[in-house]
Amino acid sequence: MDTIIEKVNPCQPDEKIMEQAGKRIAAGELVAFPTETVYGLGGDALRPEAAAKIYAAKGRPSDNPLIVHIADFSDMERVAREVPAQAKKLADAFWPGPLTMIVWKSDEVPSATTGGMDTVAVRMPNHPVALELIRKSGCLIAAPSANTSGRPSPTEAKHVAEDLSGRIAMILDGGPVGIGIESTIIDLTEKKPMVLRPGYITPKMLSDVLGQEVVMDPGIIAADDTTKPKAPGMKYKHYAPKADMVIVDGEETAVIAKINELTKQRRTEGKKVAVIATEETRKHYHADVVLCIGKRSDEDAIAQHLYQILRECDDLDVGEIYSESFQTPRIGQAIMNRLLKAAGHTVIQV
Ligand code: TXA
Ligand code: MG
Repeated sequence: MDTIIEKVNPCQPDEKIMEQAGKRIAAGELVAFPTETVYGLGGDALRPEAAAKIYAAKGRPSDNPLIVHIADFSDMERVAREVPAQAKKLADAFWPGPLTMIVWKSDEVPSATTGGMDTVAVRMPNHPVALELIRKSGCLIAAPSANTSGRPSPTEAKHVAEDLSGRIAMILDGGPVGIGIESTIIDLTEKKPMVLRPGYITPKMLSDVLGQEVVMDPGIIAADDTTKPKAPGMKYKHYAPKADMVIVDGEETAVIAKINELTKQRRTEGKKVAVIATEETRKHYHADVVLCIGKRSDEDAIAQHLYQILRECDDLDVGEIYSESFQTPRIGQAIMNRLLKAAGHTVIQV
């Protein structure tokens, strides 16, 4: 299959291109599109064949459910068995935006879309191209991140093309995304609202709006396999670069010294080494490649560049990656969730 790649203005996408893209979704084909978090791979959410195509294109296990993207809150009523009062509150505060809500599903949603689960994940993305694609298609759009299963999520159209060219009908190129890590997922079917995946919207922001306690899924905090995460997708070894990756955590000068020491050892073994550093520290490292993720003081930039940097590590064909740790104040939890997974939870404390 030839994949058509169309550039679109992210603020004001071309009407004709969006109509074409919408028609493809309505015809059961797959179209990749930008959202504010990462690029999504879209198909008609209410058609089981479209879900099957998505799983096949990504090489994704079919028990890993898809997020249904909507452009209007009233569509929540279509896909949910009933809409909890909490959903309305959260939507008023955060939609369109980087928040996915899990609710009990209606009969209209095929179990192929929800990976066999009785619940459904719903999100209203905050991106003109995504919203216009939903409207033009006349469909609700099931969309996982538009990467091959196991690779970092795509934050630019070229990442989508790397992974999925020849496997999908179309890619809408709206430039680099704004946030760079996937939406926060909150499960509203639990006794206490539970965050299944940390993201840009923090538990504190959610509990402030809900006026009740919001808990974290114990399975995403555990560093071992003893507690399974509730979101099936959080179980898989995700975001994993090909090389071994180690996070070094601690006070800045100690981290730099440790990474330089380890780099020296690996290089005498003939290994090519990459270091993930910040604007502030990059000049202190002596590795084959020093990748700068952004300013430490700018946590939004760190989130934005994380996946691109992990992809670069693969392209550079390095044998070992050392990364600084990014426990930043607001979205540090979300950043570290992805980074720890990439590193298989290998952390050296200095
Ligand atoms: O920011 C995002 O959420 C992006 C953009 C494209 O919207 N999408 C995204 O989708 O990250 P995906 O498929 O890569 O991740 C969806 C996650 C998976 O971990 C999946 O297991 C979980 O959501 N999930 C989906 N439906 C669920 C459900 N009913 N119950 C529990 N977890 C669910
Ligand atoms: Mg994904």
